[in-house]
Amino acid sequence: MTFSRIAGTGSYLPEKILTNDDLSALVDTSDEWISSRTGIRQRHVAAEGELASDLAYEAARRAIENAGLVPTDIDLIIVATTTPDMVFPSTACILQAKLGIAGCPAFDVQAVCTGFVYALATADLYVRAGKAKNALVLGSEVFTRLLDWSDRATCVLFGDGAGAVVLQASPEPGILASRLHADGAHAGILCVRGNVDRGSLLGDPFVRMDGNTVFKLAVKALADAAEEVLGEAGVSASSVDWFIPHQANIRIMEATTRRLGLPKERLVSTVALHGNTSAASVPLALDEAVRNGSVKRGQHVLLEGVGGGFTWGAILLKW
Ligand code: UT7
Repeated sequence: MTFSRIAGTGSYLPEKILTNDDLSALVDTSDEWISSRTGIRQRHVAAEGELASDLAYEAARRAIENAGLVPTDIDLIIVATTTPDMVFPSTACILQAKLGIAGCPAFDVQAVCTGFVYALATADLYVRAGKAKNALVLGSEVFTRLLDWSDRATCVLFGDGAGAVVLQASPEPGILASRLHADGAHAGILCVRGNVDRGSLLGDPFVRMDGNTVFKLAVKALADAAEEVLGEAGVSASSVDWFIPHQANIRIMEATTRRLGLPKERLVSTVALHGNTSAASVPLALDEAVRNGSVKRGQHVLLEGVGGGFTWGAILLKW
């Protein structure tokens, strides 16, 4: 039987950092409000002209090297992004060309902040079906491009970045269980309504969010999805060594950690330094936890995403 396991991780953050104090010069906010309500202290912002595929390329290079592979070993590319370089072709195709490889399937997944979890669950099915041996799975976002810098309710929350993994065919299980969900009835609570129409941008091109509604739905969705994958794998919540949820708000992350009955030391949190990087947040946090030596062979890791759509999902894996 073939399973899939993560063989390498990588990430990339743009150089420029925007602190809460920098933002308080732009809108009526404060470091005290942002850090106490969200846990965010700073975020990275892509340089002028730096695109999702550029961030993805750096993260991909690092993940491929970390897996002990070369780009030509990759036989599937899935990029989760809400901020693609172009309407089409996909950012995955653009990344493929930047990596200097051709031929393997490459496509984008659009599930906003749940995007990486959707992409990884999809790649797992490809690998287990024998259709791919070394899948490159990424979350890459230049989300700050969607922000209305005069809207303090959203512009303080998000940042840019990319995270990548190589998911490899293996005789031993890495990914133990995955569950994905969506409920399009909630599309309006977190969205960018604008689109390209006959040569013009039609509608509002900025992120709009009903933060309170998203907050409440997120806490419940994350707790439910965690229970589902733990049940499917027959693993108890207390056996989760590392919990890596979408990094949107420390209060949501800590509330879910408490609901799962996990000690807070098992929560991996990078939200203070990265802000909410949408689809990139989970692989960015995973790469940090792997590279700083926290995540060790044989440990259980729970990944979770939640966001626009409304979408949510969880993946339980053994490292
Ligand atoms: O990645 C997708 C998932 N997204 C999320 O998970 C986001 C979920 N939601 C949240 O994280 C929180 O709802 C927010 C951080 C967005 C907001 O926190 P909150 O504790 O729910 O605050 P609130 O929206 O209830 O606003 C409280 C007050 C309001 O003022 P009044 O009406 O009480 O006078 C806001 O106008 O805080 C005000 N406010 C701000 N004040 C200073 C809103 N944004 C700011 C700001 N600085 N940046």
